[in-house]
Amino acid sequence: MKKILITRRLLRSCEEKAEKTFKANLNLNDELYSQKKLIELSEGCDGLLSSLTDKLDTETISKLPESIKIISNFAVGFGNIDLEAAKKRDIAVTNTPEVLTDATAEIGVLLILGACRRASEGIASAREGGWKWSADYLIGKQLTGARLGILGMGRIGQKIAKIAKSLGMVIHYHNRSKLSGDKEQGAIYHNNLKDLLSVSDVLSICCPASKETVDMINKDTIEYLPKGAVVTNVARGDIVDDEAMIDALERRKIYAVGLDVYKNEPNLNPGYLKHKSAFILPHLGSATKDTRTAMANLAIDNIDEFFNTGNCKNKVN
Ligand code: GLV
Repeated sequence: MKKILITRRLLRSCEEKAEKTFKANLNLNDELYSQKKLIELSEGCDGLLSSLTDKLDTETISKLPESIKIISNFAVGFGNIDLEAAKKRDIAVTNTPEVLTDATAEIGVLLILGACRRASEGIASAREGGWKWSADYLIGKQLTGARLGILGMGRIGQKIAKIAKSLGMVIHYHNRSKLSGDKEQGAIYHNNLKDLLSVSDVLSICCPASKETVDMINKDTIEYLPKGAVVTNVARGDIVDDEAMIDALERRKIYAVGLDVYKNEPNLNPGYLKHKSAFILPHLGSATKDTRTAMANLAIDNIDEFFNTGNCKNKVN
């Protein structure tokens, strides 16, 4: 039986599955392992089942024991893992696509609704009490008829587009390549970022994090957006330059932001807290029982497939 280190707690039924499939070393206290501890605990293991909270950078990967042949990431994103470093060491890296598309798109839509309709302010006022209804009280931005720009039209972007379309939004997108008509579903393609941003009343960031997308939304690119645009991010915090975004909120260039992810999680840039129009969630994209179960089971199956066949359909490096 292969020996696996599971770096964070999984839902119990998934830990049981892991224990049936492998000799699984669980993290019952759900401790956030330091890189040093993770390397030590990997000793004698054949694979890791990692989480997005594990920073598997070049140095950490170079120090992993020779016996490690696979890192199965419990996430669709893999920006926490240096793919090149893993490839050099002949370690396969896998992810958990598809199973979290719907749950993550739901949060993507919640961000759009929450930011446009001033949910943060509304919730705070309702809790505080004493608010007074009036014709112009907490007036927000209506989605019907607004243009939604989707940056990264992968599975999650496509699902957000589908829901947003049913809410009456007009969908635009930018992607490395134009999608086929059945995937596009009437959305308008822009072959560059500038063109997409210039028509985005609301922006939904859905693209993967990579060296190319770090700070893609920055001081300069924010200026391409229409004045009073809303920016939402359901992908990865690294894609947005927070200082530039906070400055744009201050200048009212940006009306509101909806963020499920941000740099340096869980520590939110305090500049956002000054803005009532910031609707912020703690990285809840895939957080439903069904989805987290499916993700963990897939992460386990990826390891099993790899050791049984020497390959895995969800290998990303
Ligand atoms: C969640 O953020 C994931 O990448 O799975």
